[in-house]
Order: sequence, then structure tokens, then C-alpha cells
Amino acid sequence: MSEPFRIGLLGRGTVGGAFAELLAERADAIAAITGLRPEISGVLSRSSGDFESILEDADLIVELMGGLEPAHDYVLRTIKAGRHVVTANKQLLAHHGEELWACARENDVQLRFEGAVAGVVPVIRVIQESLAGSHVERIHGIVNGTTNFILSEMARAGLSYADALAEAQRLGYAEADPTDDVTGKDAAAKMAILARLAFGTPVHIDQVPYEGIEHITAHDIDYARELGLGLKLIGTAGRVDGGLSVRVHPAFLYAGHPLASVHGPYNAVTVESPAITEITMSGPGAGGPQTATAVLGDVISAMIPPASTPETTQTLPIVEDVESAFYLSMEVADRPGVLAQVAELLGLQGASIRTLVQKGLGDNARLVMTVHPLLESRFFAALSMIGQLDYMRSPPRAIRVIEEEFV
Ligand SMILES: NC(=O)c1ccc[n+]([C@@H]2O[C@H](COP(=O)([O-])OP(=O)(O)OC[C@H]3O[C@@H](n4cnc5c(N)ncnc54)[C@H](OP(=O)(O)O)[C@@H]3O)[C@@H](O)[C@H]2O)c1
Repeated sequence: MSEPFRIGLLGRGTVGGAFAELLAERADAIAAITGLRPEISGVLSRSSGDFESILEDADLIVELMGGLEPAHDYVLRTIKAGRHVVTANKQLLAHHGEELWACARENDVQLRFEGAVAGVVPVIRVIQESLAGSHVERIHGIVNGTTNFILSEMARAGLSYADALAEAQRLGYAEADPTDDVTGKDAAAKMAILARLAFGTPVHIDQVPYEGIEHITAHDIDYARELGLGLKLIGTAGRVDGGLSVRVHPAFLYAGHPLASVHGPYNAVTVESPAITEITMSGPGAGGPQTATAVLGDVISAMIPPASTPETTQTLPIVEDVESAFYLSMEVADRPGVLAQVAELLGLQGASIRTLVQKGLGDNARLVMTVHPLLESRFFAALSMIGQLDYMRSPPRAIRVIEEEFV
């Protein structure tokens, strides 16, 4: 008979409930792998359980409550008490990761968090272990399944943003309050964690600018399709001029990009490094049983040999102005010379047009173009001047384009 391994469970909601079920199903198999039989020794919810006594009785704490407090306080106290922690709480790590990882190193305990980024897709392990020896240049991620589902439905069925969001809510891919997902805040927390691990430099969520998908229209998606582009909410973390840029925004991708074919509520992360060119990992990015599987994998790893998140090795400056290609959509009065003037204003800032589509709309016309990469500050300076032209019928709309194709 194997010795018991006692797990204190903080939170028994969507993920915590699925974790408890999965653990019961897999306990025999885990005992065979580890020689220890995992069991839940205590459960905390808002209405029942006492953290102190759960901690006292546990070999390891699984934190699946979410939020910053009291999760931060409980995780810190667990580590200081010399117990391992497994969490799926991205906001906790994007805000307090450095403090918690340092505390885990000092106390020689493991703080594992595979479920915090991209659900069951094993991106944390791959970046921290498999690619530990590689020089990562850039990471691109679709790390929010709700927004990927909404954008996929807008493209597939021609739905408006509001209708696609309602569909996501009906199918359980979006919460009743979808704010954190659709504004990009959830993805920003995940990119802060990935950037910290891949580049070994501290990254706090406040250093990650994010832009959501609420302003995207079905027009943007339709016109871009004619240019061979598909729209995604993309997180990017990459080396720029000796520093690091981390951000989240909608971006158009050419069809050959590895993330272009990731549709529906799926997540995917592409890691680029000179030695490996690029690798892409994809799969279900959320959901109770899916995330619980990642959590259980972490629990099993913690039951076997030790591993910890190493100290940061440097402090890279965070770069704000980077080069991007853009998609630009304008509704203008249908008069001669309009295109020439827009092109001139772009040209003054060093922007050159790559592709162009023009459509008549009665007295007006829609001009949709993509421009080659240039510093974002220069593009936005041109955009601001274009927006002031008197024949502009509504504010011009700009969305970044990721140009690389890995084929
Ligand atoms: N859902 C997903 O697909 C998913 C995917 C990846 C990561 N995550 C992360 O996993 C974590 C849990 O998410 P979830 O969707 O399972 O949340 P959830 O369904 O809202 O469950 C939260 C659980 O924590 C308990 N709880 C919350 N605040 C508490 C407090 N102050 N004291 C004691 N108990 C408290 C709740 O208790 P009551 O039952 O009493 O309310 C509930 O049992 C979050 O960090 C989330 O970001 C979730």
C-alpha cells in the first residue's frame, strides 16, 4: 500500500471541481508512477474550510481560487511553510511572480503553474525545460480562447462582434462578464509570464500594453480576407534594440503563419529562435477538465524531483516603439486625388503601401491597404494627419499585420 500524498485544494469551482474528479480517477495510476497515493486532505471555498488547518494537513497546496487576494497571501504562506504550490492563476503570477518565485527558491519548494498559460498546452515546460538552452528571439501567442473563438466566428459566419460574443457566451466560451478576455487583459497577464520565462528578465503586467477586439468590425475581416489576411488577438514578446517588447493587440496574419490556422477556442504559442527556426504548440486553452489536466501534471512533477524557477539573469529595458506593418481602412469621399494625398502623408513618415483594395460606396469609397513595416510612432503620426483630411468620412482604422510566413 502506497504512502498518502496530501493535497490541500483552495477553490473548487470550474477547474478545482474538475481537478478533484480527475485526481480520484487517476490516483491508482499516479501511485504506480510516484510510489505515493495522492488524496485531497482539505478543500477551501468562500463558504467552507479553514486555510490554516488545510495547510497544516497538506504536503502540497493547489490554488484554484483566482484573483490576487487572498490567493497571494495563501500562496506566500504555503511556500514559507515549506510546502509545494501548484496554481493556474495568471493574474497572481503576472503581478507577484518575482516575489513568489524568489520565496520558493529561498524555501526550496516548487511553485508550478502550467495551467496559468494556454490551459493544457505545455508551453511553460517547453520554455523552461526543453528550450532552456536556446536563445529565444520572439514569442507569438494566441493565448485567449474566448477572443479567438469570437474572431473565428466573425470570419466564418460573418457575425458582428456583438453576435459572436453572444454565441461565445451561449456555448460557455465566454463568461457573463467577458471584460478581461475581450480587452486583452487576460492575454497580457499570460504574455507577461511567458516573456519572464523566455527572456529571464522581470516582466510585470503593468509593462504590457494591451488592446482588445471590441472595436473590430465584420468589414475589417472581409476586406482583409481579400488581401489574404486573417485576424487574431496576438500576444508578442520579442527582443528589440537590446530590450524587450511585450504587448497584446489584434493583428492580421498571412495565411502561411503558423498561428493563422488556429481557429475557435484554441490557443497556440510560437517560439522563434535561430537554432530551431520556430516551433508551435497548440491545443485547448481553457476549460475545467483541460486545465485540471495541466494542474495534475504539475502535481505529479512536484511529487517527484525538485525544480524551481531560476532567478532573473538580467533586467532588459522595456521598449515601447517598435516596427510594425499595418492594415489601414478608410471611408473617404469618392474624389480624384484622395489616394495620392493619403499616399503622400504615409510617404512623409516613411510608410510605403504594400497592397491596396478600393471599393465604391455610392458617393464615398472604401480604401483598404496594407503598408510595409515602419516604426509605430511614425505610422500613428501619419494616421493622425490622415484622420484630419476633410474628405475622410469616419476615423481611419488601423490594425497591425504580422508579415512573416514560415513555409
Ligand atoms: N476556467 C478556466 O477555464 C480556467 C483556465 C485556465 C486557468 N484558470 C484559472 O484557474 C483559477 C480558477 O478558475 P475557475 O474558473 O475554476 O474559477 P471559479 O469557477 O470561479 O471557482 C473559484 C473557486 O474558488 C473559491 N474562492 C474564490 N475566492 C475565494 C476566497 N476569497 N476564499 C475562499 N474560496 C474562494 C470559490 O468558492 P465558492 O464556490 O464558495 O464561490 C470557488 O470554489 C483562476 O485563477 C483562473 O484564472 C481557469
